[in-house]
Amino acid sequence: MTETTRTLPVPGAVGELYDRLTLSAMHDGTFNPNVHIGYWDTPDSKATIEEAMDRLTDVFTEWLRVDGTSHVLDLGCGVGGPGLRLVSHTGARVTGISVSEEQIKTANRLAAEAGLADRAVFQHGDAMRLPFADDSFDAVMALESLCHMPDRQQVLTDVARVLAPGGRLVLTDVFERHPRKEVRHPGIDKFCRDLMSTTADVDDYVALLHRSGLRLRGILDITEQTTLRLAEELGKVATAQDRPAAMNEGNFDFTEDAFRPSDLAGVDDFGCLLVIAERP
Ligand SMILES: C[S@@+](CC[C@H](N)C(=O)[O-])C[C@H]1O[C@@H](n2cnc3c(N)ncnc32)[C@H](O)[C@@H]1O
Repeated sequence: MTETTRTLPVPGAVGELYDRLTLSAMHDGTFNPNVHIGYWDTPDSKATIEEAMDRLTDVFTEWLRVDGTSHVLDLGCGVGGPGLRLVSHTGARVTGISVSEEQIKTANRLAAEAGLADRAVFQHGDAMRLPFADDSFDAVMALESLCHMPDRQQVLTDVARVLAPGGRLVLTDVFERHPRKEVRHPGIDKFCRDLMSTTADVDDYVALLHRSGLRLRGILDITEQTTLRLAEELGKVATAQDRPAAMNEGNFDFTEDAFRPSDLAGVDDFGCLLVIAERP
């Protein structure tokens, strides 16, 4: 099966998936303001998963180069953890969008509780139809959200439209590392199927950014610091927790065959890319 013959994610269904995951995580006490793979700077880093998640936001903040005068778009904002951390560290304003109504409700509640509602606003919306004027943001961040968007080209082209000249885009995305195996590891198939995702190709990004009118500033394989390390960390915890947080119970349609992070333990052909681009 090639990526083009696999089922593409549908934004409405992705929104419903994240609605269920959000409600479930609140119900079973596993709620986390970050919905992403963490970042461990070094192989001997002792950071917990929670600390590594915050570290990923801080890596984004370093590359975004924003300050208290900036307005940042958070594309696929989750429940707002990364956006709120960026606001409190830089003073920037953040507007976040997600296809999940439950995530948006939660993100706005967390912003109000943190006293940041004047600088952080979260709204329901599809990244493939950005409801914003041209040149309206100084920077765009997308932490692990493009994998759910069926048309990366359309997203990046629209990002180029809403970014002001000189503004940066920083994103992470999942990809299949080369050389591709003839038969894809079943863990990758399960990940894509159950988390409604597609994988990118490192070469794709060069062409995607070029066609969108964005200038590539950097592309880094951060697999060792992210996916591989997360699978290792999760391997250390009990099996009941060895599932994406909200898959444990509640109203998620969990089956024995469902994806678990341990399905990707040691699978080094599944990785994570950090991409930095700029609107010329
Ligand atoms: C893995 S979560 C990452 C959330 C957040 N960036 C974080 O790091 O905590 C993926 C996010 O992408 C959002 N998303 C997926 N497809 C989307 C689309 N077409 N438009 C807007 N958001 C989308 C989901 O609703 C979810 O919030």
